[in-house]
Amino acid sequence: MTQDELKLAVAREAIKYVEEDSIVGVGTGSTANFFIDELAKMKGRIDGAVASSEATATRLKERGIRVVELNSVGELAVYVDGADEITEHLAMIKGGGGALTREKIVAAVARKFVCIADGSKLVPTLGEFPLPVEVIPMARSWVGRQMVKLGGIPRLREGFTTDNGNLIIDVSGLKILNPPELEQAINNIPGVVTVGLFAQRGADILLLGTPNGVKTYRR
Ligand code: A5P
Repeated sequence: MTQDELKLAVAREAIKYVEEDSIVGVGTGSTANFFIDELAKMKGRIDGAVASSEATATRLKERGIRVVELNSVGELAVYVDGADEITEHLAMIKGGGGALTREKIVAAVARKFVCIADGSKLVPTLGEFPLPVEVIPMARSWVGRQMVKLGGIPRLREGFTTDNGNLIIDVSGLKILNPPELEQAINNIPGVVTVGLFAQRGADILLLGTPNGVKTYRR
């Protein structure tokens, strides 16, 4: 099976977690895009969607799904999104697409986070994928120096500005043995908007695409 076939399989499986007449939280990235296409097939049976990025909002609208502002929604039953890396404990690195801040906000509101990923994303330890950190532009160098103190190698994502007008530093060389602790430590650095570690609020369910079918992991 190709990677795209695995992404399609998990996107289809995720539709089972969508409640009728509800507003659905929708993530960003190539796997989430497959989910949007599947969601469009049941658009008459949902009230709409909250998007985690401008790119996702555009795709949802193009497929005729009503996009709702998060501020006008009291609660979300489910948030469906991909990940760059995920462990069996359902801690994740996200933000490869740069949408980590809005993703973390929408995920925080949702009662259930369903992560959809092809098998290549499952890792024993987070950190092989460079950890994205969204920073206020004036704090770029300072935050970079703090990343070095934590043992990482920071690299500015060249030519990229987030939907919120900020920058991304991608931090490689980290072997993340305690994801919630590192998430807290990086969150506490002035100038950091969001770190792409999703561990304090990880996924509740992982739908992992494998050649033998979709495997379900629960927290
Ligand atoms: C977007 O900012 C990311 O968090 C994505 O969810 C993550 O990069 C997964 O993307 P793919 O589904 O394209 O691998």
